[in-house]
Amino acid sequence: MKNISLVIVGGGAGLGALLAEMAVAEGASAIGIIDLDPRAAEAALAPARKAGLPTAFAACDIRTADAAHAAFATVARSLGRVDTLVNAAAIYPRKPILEITDADWDASLAVNIKGTHHMMVAAIRQMRLQPPVGMVRGRIVNITSVDAFKAHPQNAHYAATKAAVVSLTKSMAHEVAPDGILVNSVAPAGMATERARQLGFLPELAKASPLGRGGEPQEMAEWVLMAGGPKNTYMTGETIIVSGGYIYA
Ligand SMILES: NC(=O)c1ccc[n+]([C@@H]2O[C@H](COP(=O)([O-])OP(=O)(O)OC[C@H]3O[C@@H](n4cnc5c(N)ncnc54)[C@H](O)[C@@H]3O)[C@@H](O)[C@H]2O)c1
Repeated sequence: MKNISLVIVGGGAGLGALLAEMAVAEGASAIGIIDLDPRAAEAALAPARKAGLPTAFAACDIRTADAAHAAFATVARSLGRVDTLVNAAAIYPRKPILEITDADWDASLAVNIKGTHHMMVAAIRQMRLQPPVGMVRGRIVNITSVDAFKAHPQNAHYAATKAAVVSLTKSMAHEVAPDGILVNSVAPAGMATERARQLGFLPELAKASPLGRGGEPQEMAEWVLMAGGPKNTYMTGETIIVSGGYIYA
């Protein structure tokens, strides 16, 4: 992530917070976080501050376009340039497929699909104004899930939103390829973030893995940094599945 100014949506916890820390260790030049939770975001920015990097934060619920765009503008203004956006914010409530209500649908669609779309649009508007570095003007990495590719009757509304993120990634990648902006997704299998541990589904996933264990968040984060980092100059519209053999594309 050398010399990359990185903005992480959902960077207050879990994978997003870990990405902020790992990006600093890899030489990022600035870190911005957009999250619902200001305290968590403050804590997640600590490694960047400790390294003396410019940091920025905006508290935001990404479900509505106006709020999402305003938050991105605040962070971008403060950092000056945004090389990479990572969309890691999502909700993943579990509910049997026959019991999903309108309210359940609305909540998951609003955060996981609309929020991801709003943040991509905001970032692309900013990236289009920036001069390219080499051939690349900016990179976006959306976090989807293996659930996008698998039958998941305990989690069907979440799985459907993550399939939508795979689709949105392709459409957006095609739209902004002429601008030199690369848009990709990473689809992790279950990983031991605090929230996933609390929900208790990790042992069941570990059992289903041919590697005989669940993935660690670091093992997913490496691929996010690869897709969003300077070594990626030609991959766009792809979804990288990191599932330890849980599924094969
Ligand atoms: N943990 C897993 O097992 C797993 C597996 C596959 C994919 N994923 C995906 O990885 C990503 C990160 O997961 P995690 O386990 O780190 O999640 P997490 O719940 O630990 O962190 C999500 C962050 O997003 C923020 N957020 C939630 N709703 C928001 C909103 N409306 N506006 C702004 N911020 C909001 C939260 O405050 C939190 O800081 C998600 O996209 C998730 O779907 C997770």
